[in-house]
Formats: sequence, C-alpha cells, structure tokens
Amino acid sequence: MKQTMMRMLLHFRSILLGVLTILVLIQAQDQSGFISIDCGLPQHLSYIHESTYINYISDTKFIDTGVSKRIQFKDDIQQQLEYVRSFPSGVRNCYRINVTSGIQYLIRVSFYYGNYDNLNETPQFDLHFGPNVWDTVTFSSNDLGFAFKEIIYTPSQDYIQPCLVNTGKGIPFISAIELRTLNNNTYTTHSAKSVLSLSGRFHMVSKSIENLQYRYKDDVFDRIWYSQLYNKNVARLNTTLHSDDLHQNDFEPPAIVMSSALTPVNASDPLELYWNADNGNDQYYLYMHFNEVENLAPNETRAFNIRVSDTFWHGPVIPIYRKVKTIYSTTPLTGGTRYPISLFKIENSTLPPIVNAIEIYKVKDFSQPETKQDDVDTITNIKNAYGMARNWNGDPCGPVKYMWEGLNCSIDGNNIQRITSLNLSSSGLTGQIAPSISKLTMLQYLDLSNNSLKGSLPDFLMQLRSLKVLNVGKNKLTGLVPSGLLERSKTGSLSLSVDDNPELCTTESCKKKNIVVPLVTLFSTLIVILLISLGFWIYRRQKATWSKSKKKDSMKSKHQTFSYTEILNITDNLKTIIGEGGFGKVYIGILQDQTQVAVKFLSKSSKQGYKEFQSEAQLLTIVHHRSLVSLVGYCDEGEVKALIYEYMANGNLLQHLFDGNTNILKWNERLKIAVDAAHGLEYLHDGCKPPIMHRDLKPANILLDENMHAKIADFGLSRAFGNDIDSHISTRPAGTPGYIDPKYQRTGNTNKKNDIYSFGIILFELITGRKAVARASDEYIHILQWVIPIVEGGDIQNVVDPKLEGEFNINSAWKAVEIAMSCTSSNEVERPDISQILAELKECLSLEMVQRNNVSTRARDELVSIATISETTILAR
Ligand SMILES: *[C@@H]1O[C@H](CO)[C@@H](O)[C@H](O)[C@H]1NC(C)=O
Ligand SMILES: *[C@@H]1O[C@H](CO)[C@@H](O)[C@H](O)[C@H]1NC(C)=O
Ligand SMILES: *[C@@H]1O[C@H](CO)[C@@H](O)[C@H](O)[C@H]1NC(C)=O
Ligand SMILES: *[C@@H]1O[C@H](CO)[C@@H](O)[C@H](O)[C@H]1NC(C)=O
Ligand SMILES: *[C@@H]1O[C@H](CO)[C@@H](O)[C@H](O)[C@H]1NC(C)=O
Ligand SMILES: *[C@@H]1O[C@H](CO)[C@@H](O)[C@H](O)[C@H]1NC(C)=O
Ligand SMILES: *[C@@H]1O[C@H](CO)[C@@H](O)[C@H](O)[C@H]1NC(C)=O
Ligand SMILES: *[C@@H]1O[C@H](CO)[C@@H](O)[C@H](O)[C@H]1NC(C)=O
Ligand SMILES: *[C@@H]1O[C@H](CO)[C@@H](O)[C@H](O)[C@H]1NC(C)=O
Repeated sequence: MKQTMMRMLLHFRSILLGVLTILVLIQAQDQSGFISIDCGLPQHLSYIHESTYINYISDTKFIDTGVSKRIQFKDDIQQQLEYVRSFPSGVRNCYRINVTSGIQYLIRVSFYYGNYDNLNETPQFDLHFGPNVWDTVTFSSNDLGFAFKEIIYTPSQDYIQPCLVNTGKGIPFISAIELRTLNNNTYTTHSAKSVLSLSGRFHMVSKSIENLQYRYKDDVFDRIWYSQLYNKNVARLNTTLHSDDLHQNDFEPPAIVMSSALTPVNASDPLELYWNADNGNDQYYLYMHFNEVENLAPNETRAFNIRVSDTFWHGPVIPIYRKVKTIYSTTPLTGGTRYPISLFKIENSTLPPIVNAIEIYKVKDFSQPETKQDDVDTITNIKNAYGMARNWNGDPCGPVKYMWEGLNCSIDGNNIQRITSLNLSSSGLTGQIAPSISKLTMLQYLDLSNNSLKGSLPDFLMQLRSLKVLNVGKNKLTGLVPSGLLERSKTGSLSLSVDDNPELCTTESCKKKNIVVPLVTLFSTLIVILLISLGFWIYRRQKATWSKSKKKDSMKSKHQTFSYTEILNITDNLKTIIGEGGFGKVYIGILQDQTQVAVKFLSKSSKQGYKEFQSEAQLLTIVHHRSLVSLVGYCDEGEVKALIYEYMANGNLLQHLFDGNTNILKWNERLKIAVDAAHGLEYLHDGCKPPIMHRDLKPANILLDENMHAKIADFGLSRAFGNDIDSHISTRPAGTPGYIDPKYQRTGNTNKKNDIYSFGIILFELITGRKAVARASDEYIHILQWVIPIVEGGDIQNVVDPKLEGEFNINSAWKAVEIAMSCTSSNEVERPDISQILAELKECLSLEMVQRNNVSTRARDELVSIATISETTILAR
C-alpha cells in the first residue's frame, strides 16, 4: 500500500504481503456476493485460499487478451498474487465481469510485480472503470512492487469493466480482482457520480506485530483493516469480544477490530489524528466506528465531540458498551491538504474519548456516461459474428480517447451513450449482413463497403430509422434492394450506396422470386369508424378513496380552504378572467405570498354533485406530480364552490397549437409536451390508488408553465361532480367531442383505455397541427378520418404539420404516428398502457435529440447517387 495514500499522525505501515496473520477458521464459509478472481491463473485452476478459505477462480472467463505469467519472488505472499496477467499488446485491455445492477459493491484490484518479467523494473499504467478514469497505478521502491485500489460502486448495468491502460511507461499487469457486495444504504454519497475510493482503513488492535491486518472472515465483507503504530501520547484499550457479544449496525465492522480503542494517555487531553490529502481539491468521506470497550461504573461517563478541520463535525458521541455506532459524512469534506481530527471530551464526561476504527475515502468522479447496455451487447455480438480481430474491448464510447475504432457515439436525452456510426469498411467481413446490426437503433451512419458480404440486402435495415448514410458498395450482395430503402433514398432521407455488387438490383426488372412486402402492414387492421356525438354516460360512484402514491413525485400538502371573501381578495374582486371551462369561469389571483394562482369557479347552475365536493377537493389537493397542475386549495361556502390552482404562465396547448399563435411549436417541443403529459397521465393511472381516470383529456386541459413544461389540469373533476342520479346536468363533463372514445360512448364503460384514446387524438393534433374535429364546408371531419388513409399510404411527409416546414426527424415523426395510431386503435385491447406510451415517446424524443446532437456524417455527394431507381412506389398498396 502506498505511503502517499494517507498519512496519519500515528504513522502506519502496512504491507499486504508479509506475515499472514489471519486466523485459520475451518468452518463452512458464507461467500455469497463474493467474486474472487486470480488474474493469470491458468484456465482449469481454481482454489480455496490457504488462509482465508475464499474460493478464487481463474480470470479466463472474463477477458480474452493478455498473457498469464508467474512471479519470481514467492516467499511470504498471499496466494492470489502468485500469478499475474500481463498486457504486452493493445493500449486498453478490459475485463468484463457480470454483476447485479443496483447493488453496492466493494471492488478491489491488486497488483504485485514480483519481477514476473525478469526486468526488475516496475511499470506505471492507468486504471479505468468503463468510460471513467479510475486511477494511476504506481509502485514505490519500499513497497516491494505491491499496490491495490479499492472503490465502493453501485453498477447501473449488469456488468463492470475494469481496464488497464498502457500509457507508455511499461507493460500493465494485474494480480487479482475481488468483488464483495455490501449492505444497502451504507457508504452512500451525495451523488451517484461520486464514487468512494479507499484512502485508509485502520484498526487499533494492540498486538506486538505492527502490520497486523484483518480481513475475511473476521470481516464479513472482506474489507482489509490495517494497523497503526502509535505514539506515546495515546494508549490502547482492549478487551476480548466475540462477534456474538457485539450488537452490530449495517456497516458490520469486525468484532476483533471493535474490541480495541485508542484513547489519550492523559485523560484530559483530546485525541488527535490527521490525514494529508494528495491534492487540495480532493474531497473525502470519513467513517468512524465506536464501541465502548469498558463496562462503565454508574458514576462514570464517556462523551465527546469531534472536530474535523477545526470545525465541529459531530457530537456529543457517547459510545455504548458492546454496540457499534458509526459516525460518517453525508456530504464530502473539503478543504486543504491536511485534515486534523480532534476528539475532545465534553465537560461532564469523566472519561477521555476513544475511537475503535476509522475509514477514509476519497471521492472519485465517475460522471462519464456509459454506453447503453443493449448497444454494447449488440456490437459485441457483431464482433463475434464476424470473428473480428479488432482490439475492441471496454466501453465502446468512452473515454473518448479510447473510443472503439470505426465507431462514433452520441449522448442521448437520458445521458447515456448511444452508437451512432459504425464503419466496418475494408474489414474482411464474410457471410451475410448480421441481423443484430438492426438493434443499433440510433445508427445514422453505416459503412459495410469493401468486404465480401453475401446474400441479400436485408429488410431489417429499415428498422434503423435514424440511418442517413448506408454504404454497402464493393460486396457480393445479391437480389433486390429493399423497397423501403429505395424509397428513403428517393426522398433524400437516406444516402444509399450499393455500387460494385454485380448481382444486386435496384429495379424490379430483375426481381425473381422476391416478393415485395408492403412496408406498412402495421395499420392494415385498423378500422376507421368514428361517430362524433356527445352523449351522457353514467358513472357509478366509487366510494374508495384516493391514496397517495409512493412515487417520488408525491409530496405532503396541507388542505387549504378559502372563504369567499378571501377569494375576492385574491382575485382583486374577480378582476381578470383568464378562461372559461366546462365547469365555469377562471380568474387570475395572487396569494399573500405573491404566488400566482388560477381560481376556477364551479358553475352555480348545477346544485347537484356538490355533496361530496369538499371531500373530493381535499383528496385532489394531495395528488401531486410535476406533470399535474396542483390544486392549492378550494372554497366551499354555500353555493360558492371554487378551486384554486397553481397558475400556468403559458396557457394551454390549445392556444399554442391552434389559436392563431404565431410562435409555432417546434417538433421537439411538441414531443416534450407529449412526454410531460404522458408522465402526468401515468401518475394518474398507475401512481394513484385507485387509479384516477381523467375522462376529459384535450389540449385545453394541457397547461404550460413558464418553462413550457406541460401539466395536465382538471383531473378528477368528473369524479368530484359525477352524479348518476342527476345526469342531465349539462355542466358535468363527459368528455369533449372528438376526444371521446367511440366505444366509451356506446357502452358507458369507463376505463384507462378511454383516456389513452383521447391521448392518441391529442398526439395526432400535435403531429398534424389539425384539430380533432375540423369543419370542411358543411361537414365535420374527424382527425382519424383524415389521417389514417394518409398513413396507410405511407405518406408520412403529408401527415406532419406543414407549419413545421420540414423541420423534424422523419423517423421520430414516423414513430410518433405509430404511437398515436396504436392509442386510437378501435380495438381497446390493442391500445398500449400509458407507461408503454411514455417509454416510446421518450424514444421518439431521443431520436430527435440524437439528430440534433448530430455527429459528423459523410456528405451525401461523396456517395454514388442512385437516382436511377424505379419510380414505382412500392409503399402504396
Ligand atoms: C455474463 O452475462 C452474459 C449475459 O447474461 C452472458 O452471456 C455471459 O456468458 C456472462 N459471462 C460470464 C463470464 O458469466
Ligand atoms: C438492497 O438493494 C437490492 C437492490 O436494489 C434489493 O434487491 C434489496 O432488497 C435491498 N435490500 C434491502 C435490505 O433493502
Ligand atoms: C490489552 O493488551 C495488552 C497488550 O497486548 C495486554 O497486556 C492487556 O492485558 C490487554 N488488556 C485487556 C483488558 O485485555
Ligand atoms: C495532563 O494534562 C494536563 C493539562 O494539559 C496537565 O496539567 C497534567 O499535568 C497532565 N497530566 C499528566 C499525567 O501528564
Ligand atoms: C466512581 O466510584 C468509585 C467507587 O465506587 C470510585 O472509586 C471512583 O473514583 C469514582 N469515580 C469517579 C469519576 O467519581
Ligand atoms: C452532560 O451535560 C449536558 C448538558 O451540558 C447534558 O445534556 C448531558 O445529558 C450530560 N451528559 C451526561 C452523560 O451526563
Ligand atoms: C467519427 O467522428 C470523427 C470526427 O468527427 C470522424 O473523423 C470519423 O470519420 C467518424 N467515424 C465514423 C465511423 O463515422
Ligand atoms: C471507414 O473506414 C475506411 C477503412 O478503414 C476508411 O477508409 C474510411 O475513411 C472510414 N470512413 C469514415 C467516415 O471514417
Ligand atoms: C479494400 O479492402 C482491401 C483489403 O480488404 C484493401 O487492400 C483495399 O485497399 C480496400 N480498398 C479500398 C478502396 O479501401
């Protein structure tokens, strides 16, 4: 272990090699959650470690590069250090180890040089972790060529990729990789991107051997605890402690470690320690473990405060006899290069402070986005399918300097790297075009030219909706170029190059047995029937109450009630009307704390349905989500019923889409609105119990705040006012013409799928810029009547709002149309759930965003034009 890692006033020296002091326990051991890899160990070998009884396995399953070597100095070293894997070729070599995502791991990599290469010179190299830079591995002369690095990390994918990187200072090698799962909620940091890297972990056990270490099975997580030398001002208190006698916490420090404590010799002195930072900008997390080792007499007390860097940190700490207490940082400690720790007793304490164990971690920044696991798996499959010899390992996209040759990537809306270009030109590929290529869904550029690819140019390439450049020239492909690709090439959305494939045809004339499959089969089963009429429906009042969801977004809120006088005050005597809805007029208002609100009066003409107004309004005030307009409070005074909502500065979607608004919503803004609204609806449908049906979704009920975030309004109102006895009251909303599911009207049966239908109609309005019901001379035309024939003809360009002037990603639009089609399917069962719609809309948005963050693609005129293709429109049926 490197001396520079940390230095405390109580000097320590610890060498992982050297005397083995672990107690020999010959019991069955629980090693669940352990992955112990002895790097370089020949393939067929595995063993039970001679002192820890941990089962070590060879690393050959986890890496296919590097060579196995054996060290020369073998005396007195731990068994897992005897072999090394060395990497004479390739700049970056990576392990890939399967783990369980979402669980916290302690990950330790060890390096023992041992003159394995007979050069008597230790190298220096870098250590990466996926796309992130972890550390630099160096060896100093007095540590016998040993180093290790340890982090605490919660993987977000199902594997981790530790990499060794040759920086021109010698050949990288590695001795061991050890993974141990930790308890949840221990060693947490303020941010998932901040990873804890071990700086020091110390125990105070008093034994004559100064470099005494404890690890598994004393430590259930196989943390290694190092001892320290101590100076004359401190003493050790020790006791015998069996693990059964110790009341543990989730950190589970070993009983042997907790059996001893450090204390000042002079009881009135503070206990003082410090550590030095390598760099003044470093950030640290400190963990101190306490256990009272003495059974105190009734007249004795031990209580002390802790200061770190001359600032109060915690206290008073009162260690409890035989019970572990851990005091730790919840935010990083910063400041300077020296961190003094001072434990000083409080006035009424009769005994001096103690500490049993200390852990210090430095924060590592692991904020580089990883590549989406699907893309990694796919590209790995492609590599394997073609038996490619490229040195492709580690994260494909990061760090940028080590991006896989022939790839380019782009960060999507979820801060994940996606592969956007693949160049396998002149790579000696044989066989067919691998179907897995179609799973690289964000691909914009694909070059497979100058290989020996055979077979046909597959239809599945059509699934690459973002593809803008496809070069398959100079191959041995046969058959007909898929019609969809030709079509896209013709419309200019794809630059297609197919030259130098002697047996590949671009016209139907050479079509032999090929059958042209119409592209758009998806919609063939849709039936276009829509009768628009406004009907009343009966809603059976459910007595169940809405309960708060456990989702993050929900929060506590007080029910606020307002008197009519207050309402008049708030609205400046009903000065400004900002809207008029199905229920009544809406006024702008300002609360005492200057919050702007919208006050919605409920029409007095309806005296029915008020009975439950108060309880329903109360319930609505607890439904909170960032994509729902929150109810601030309500007024229920005699005939006056009003609801007070948060004010939405940008009005509603209806105004933005149709009311002659000159500020045209851009395509990505429309998608964001759709995503926001879907979030809100998802919360109503899946986050509330029982679910809340909106029953009157329409653009007028989708409001926009000052940042153009969309929120759904008026949810739950039909519930508050639904009254099956007095169903003739016309102010009660039963949906709005054009947005009501035709099925719903027939059966009166209300369920989530009715809301999905309305959502689909809104989506079509966003896509087309047309109203749900448009008037053409004497007849009313419903949007579905208009849109479905055009979609079925494959003419997407003519579906999208002409006001966008072509400023949209065609694939994103295509997908949005598909989603809207499925939402409005005449068969309820075919309509997806809102959660699925949400996921698809997000993908729609990322298609558009990837396009915007576009990486360079080859200029179209560099590729051979194929304007000579058949003019036959294969899309139309
Ligand atoms: C890791 O997981 C992948 C996917 O589940 C599997 O194909 C692979 O064989 C696993 N690797 C090892 C070494 O277990
Ligand atoms: C710990 O986290 C894992 C993964 O999130 C979870 O499956 C497990 O139930 C959690 N355990 C506890 C005790 O919370
Ligand atoms: C603590 O350790 C020292 C040295 O090993 C020993 O002399 C002493 O008896 C121990 N005290 C207790 C209470 O075990
Ligand atoms: C302990 O410290 C106090 C205050 O510093 C001092 O007065 C006293 O002499 C010290 N006692 C011993 C035994 O060193
Ligand atoms: C506590 O009481 C014991 C006798 O029971 C006595 O010897 C000792 O000095 C007392 N300690 C303190 C701090 O008062
Ligand atoms: C010490 O005094 C503080 C008040 O100064 C009191 O709150 C605390 O309970 C006392 N602690 C003990 C152990 O007597
Ligand atoms: C990736 O991007 C770089 C820089 O923009 C460019 O030179 C290179 O040709 C691209 N590679 C591929 C495969 O698109
Ligand atoms: C693709 O790879 C070929 C062969 O390695 C190279 O000639 C060509 O420039 C690459 N194209 C791009 C865009 O990087
Ligand atoms: C095509 O690939 C071969 C090797 O596979 C290479 O020798 C040749 O230069 C490449 N031609 C072009 C134009 O890149």
